[in-house]
Amino acid sequence: MIDNIKKHIAEVEAFTANAQGEVEAFRIKYLGSKGLLKDFFSEFKNVPNEQKKEFGQTINALKKAAEEKVNFLKNSFDTSTDLNSVYGDLTRPGEPFTVGSRHPISVVKNKIIDIFSRIGFNVSEGPEIEDDWHNFTALNLPEYHPARDMQDTFFVEKDPDVLLRTHTSSVQVRYMENNKPPIRTISPGRVYRNEAISARSHCFFHQVEGLYVDKGVSFADLKQTLQYFTTEMFGKSKIRLRPSYFPFTEPSAEVDVYWGLETETDYKMTKGTGWLEIMGCGMVDPNVLTNCGIDANEYSGFAFGMGIDRIALLLHQIPDIRMLSENDIRFLEQFKSSY
Ligand code: PHE
Repeated sequence: MIDNIKKHIAEVEAFTANAQGEVEAFRIKYLGSKGLLKDFFSEFKNVPNEQKKEFGQTINALKKAAEEKVNFLKNSFDTSTDLNSVYGDLTRPGEPFTVGSRHPISVVKNKIIDIFSRIGFNVSEGPEIEDDWHNFTALNLPEYHPARDMQDTFFVEKDPDVLLRTHTSSVQVRYMENNKPPIRTISPGRVYRNEAISARSHCFFHQVEGLYVDKGVSFADLKQTLQYFTTEMFGKSKIRLRPSYFPFTEPSAEVDVYWGLETETDYKMTKGTGWLEIMGCGMVDPNVLTNCGIDANEYSGFAFGMGIDRIALLLHQIPDIRMLSENDIRFLEQFKSSY
């Protein structure tokens, strides 16, 4: 009997398998609930006393050998299936993957948001299909006001009350209606104007408008904020404000930044003046505050608005605004950036 078990030990040690299934059959043969080891253990009671010790040690040796063999073979199959079927040939050359790029409009927009968020402005958004109140009337542009002609409007169907917003000032109206001062918010978004499409202008483009309403907000605060912005955005801190007109601000101004005349590009960008017009701004007209439910005797505010597309064109020297909406991959993939 003992010799028989020893034969099995030799067999176990010599065993090799080519597939997971063979290992499992081997395991069942020796270690299964009806396996050989079970049979040998049940023989134990029939073995004469003086052989019990050797018999016991021999079965244990068989058990140990069988268990070790099963574990060893199992592991070897585990790793070889992983390598071959999961990873394939680990020595093959790597596959290059292409990284996408942000649209130049998003790059500029994100940079503007980042700059204003550092001085406490949040981001607000509103609908692109607006009503007359939020786009015009609340902004001090009553019906038949001549200034409505400044912004050629797309109407939705024939309803004069439903239109595509012509500026994101409409978002500021909504924001003032729903929030109490202090208000510091910027509103980026797409706007629409019924203009002939050319290299210089499109019927839709993007704006970021800003609004600050609190007690005692002054024109000096506006100027300081703008200067902070141009410094962070363009690295240029010299600005000038030229008197202008917007129905919703009083006084109003155009903001120019001094770009300089160091290179030929500077000459081209600034038409030889060194100055670049970048946005409109002003103190919020008290009528607008009142229209939006804010007490104009207690609060004052400033607002500004700029075109994102125009800034993107300037910064990247893009010759035609239409390129921004054609989605030509050869154009878009030139704008790899961290923003
Ligand atoms: N809403 C104006 C425009 O679209 C820009 C602007 C915003 C001007 C805020 C002044 C103050 O032209």
